[in-house]
Amino acid sequence: MDAPWEHPDWYDLHDTTWTAGPEREPEHYREAVIALPPLDRDDHLVDLGAGTGKLAGLIARSYPELGRVTLVEPNARKLARAVARLREALPSAEITAVAYGLGEGRALDVRQATLATVGSVFMPIMELRGGSLAGLRWLRAGLAEARAMLRPGAWFFDLETLAAPWARGDLEEPVRRLTMTELSVEIAGAGFEAVECVYRFRDRVTLRARRD
Ligand SMILES: C[S@@+](CC[C@H](N)C(=O)[O-])C[C@H]1O[C@@H](n2cnc3c(N)ncnc32)[C@H](O)[C@@H]1O
Repeated sequence: MDAPWEHPDWYDLHDTTWTAGPEREPEHYREAVIALPPLDRDDHLVDLGAGTGKLAGLIARSYPELGRVTLVEPNARKLARAVARLREALPSAEITAVAYGLGEGRALDVRQATLATVGSVFMPIMELRGGSLAGLRWLRAGLAEARAMLRPGAWFFDLETLAAPWARGDLEEPVRRLTMTELSVEIAGAGFEAVECVYRFRDRVTLRARRD
């Protein structure tokens, strides 16, 4: 049988509608916040690939008693913006900035966090880095680093936009985003339990898991 995108009607239906688009982002992020456990003074959030602090800022506004936030981001100007945003939202919290890109392999002094969030980082950055999927080395290294920052039983939330059904590539082939099953398998393989989808709209997904 031909691939579904060779069917003219399927093609017309999906051509411009596969991606949820930026207008779905507020819903995507809001639903992730709703799926979080309650957060309080004893909690420590690590936001990986924090950017300008959009996701961490949303969480902070929903949980103003949150005690500690660590922002991990390789872009220094974005990191500074994220820190300012979080200090404003959580004036009495301990806010730590870590200028770091996941997968660099440097030892970080971030341990025993109760929640790690990853907002639109693994899939787009994998694609931006280019090259081949090559055994998913970067993703696996990043997931292992995320796990090492968490205490046993801590929560892990990954918000991503996934591969289109027609995306080519396999483990040794040119890079592409992953499907939900592939990403779930990677998260479980990195030492997380109870991997669960808590939101999906077309390519947008939030996967939640707990450190084993
Ligand atoms: C699409 S933005 C998302 C930012 C933020 N999490 C959000 O939801 O708005 C992706 C971010 O990942 C950062 N990034 C790039 N390489 C990275 C790496 N190796 N590890 C962590 N973050 C990385 C980029 O600088 C960028 O800020």
